[in-house]
Amino acid sequence: MTNNKNNKAIWNTRIKQKSSILYQKAGSSLNIDKRLFKEDILGSKAHVEMLFRQKIISFKIKNKIIYGLDKIEKEIKNKKFIFKKEYEDIHINIEKRLHEIIGEEAGYIHTARSRNDQVITDFKLWIKSSTKNLDFEIQNLIKSIIKLAEKNVETIMPGFTHLKNAQPISFAHYLLSFVEMFNRDRFRFNNNLENLNENPLGVGALIGTSFNIDRNYTTKKLGFKKPTNNSVDTVSDRDFVLDFLFSSSVCAMHISRIAEELIIWNSDAFRLISLSDQIVTGSSIMPQKKNPDLLEFLRGKTGSSYGNLFSMLTILKGLPMSYFKDLQDDKQLVFSSYDNLIDSLKILNEVINNITPNKKNMIKLAETGFITATDLADYLVKNCSMPFRDAYQKTASIINYAEKSKKELKELTLDELKKFNPKFTSDVLSIFELKNSINSKKSFGGTSFSNIKKMIVKYKKNL
Ligand code: ARG
Repeated sequence: MTNNKNNKAIWNTRIKQKSSILYQKAGSSLNIDKRLFKEDILGSKAHVEMLFRQKIISFKIKNKIIYGLDKIEKEIKNKKFIFKKEYEDIHINIEKRLHEIIGEEAGYIHTARSRNDQVITDFKLWIKSSTKNLDFEIQNLIKSIIKLAEKNVETIMPGFTHLKNAQPISFAHYLLSFVEMFNRDRFRFNNNLENLNENPLGVGALIGTSFNIDRNYTTKKLGFKKPTNNSVDTVSDRDFVLDFLFSSSVCAMHISRIAEELIIWNSDAFRLISLSDQIVTGSSIMPQKKNPDLLEFLRGKTGSSYGNLFSMLTILKGLPMSYFKDLQDDKQLVFSSYDNLIDSLKILNEVINNITPNKKNMIKLAETGFITATDLADYLVKNCSMPFRDAYQKTASIINYAEKSKKELKELTLDELKKFNPKFTSDVLSIFELKNSINSKKSFGGTSFSNIKKMIVKYKKNL
């Protein structure tokens, strides 16, 4: 066994001593980049097919390598593969195992290739398919939000600014604002796929290769759009990683804002929504508690997502061109953001399916705080020929009066209103009805029931 050179580090002829054990442990990326095994095998297969087509390796060697790679893929999938920590990463582990299966000729696999281009190829392929998984989960979430919105077009609640009663709104309209955020996330992620769609394979360590390779062939085979233009940039570039981490952070931020909103609505101070038992947890000491832990979990995870983005930006800052070991951490950051985000999307979906609006409380709260004041000002502009600024002041005086008289706007009589402006007629009283207020907001993108219904049809078509 000791004479078997396959058991030694690839660089053992040049570097006589074993690498620091401490560093072997800390510097190994195997436990992390294991996840790239499928993409690594896919990339290697495309590479050796190309080497054969270009007459760089023989048909026999190509087939042997492909046979070995298929066997390795099965071993890994069936958990039969023995991962060896002493080999830094998944790439060397696979190459070493290939050597065990087919012998010396395994060595041809790394002709005209470096781990530098190999790693980025695998990583881009992984990000491509993972982005599609995210897109699928975002769509599922959107579907659930639309379902809840459909049931609540006519559910009236206070719309808030500064968390103070602002103007009445349909619960569905609030919910559909979440759909807009997630649609932008889908768009952002899909744009990233366009940007990363250049094939890195074939740029070698940093300057290309003297072998007569065909990068267009591997580009097609691996589903990229075109080969990358510059070999140095290719091995240095992690913009596609930043794009992924940024888009994940924005999506996580959307989830977090929704979580925060729902926590507030569910709080004992608001009681606007109830969460089913499936999505709350208890307290170890206070028997009465039903806490919105899942929502807090979602809000918290957003922090790690931002952290990952900032780690990557910091790693890249000041890094000279080409490959440096600093870059190895890119995968850990992406995997962590991905795992958090895919879980968060599924959890939020569950939450949305387990929410009940407390319609009575919503209306009760909406009927306080002079929430239809703006409708009154609008009325003065429309029916009493007043510039908006004057109407605004006049309404403010009416509110001062109502507040002093301990009345809500709709409790004022026509006579009381007429004292402020004789042009008021009895139709003014109907504008204080929450439903009327909402349905008057027919401007495109506004909260009228008819607008919402149209938007729901549109969103559904988009899915
Ligand atoms: N494990 C390394 C990584 O993922 C592989 C790249 C190796 N390249 C190198 N020149 N050491 O970044």
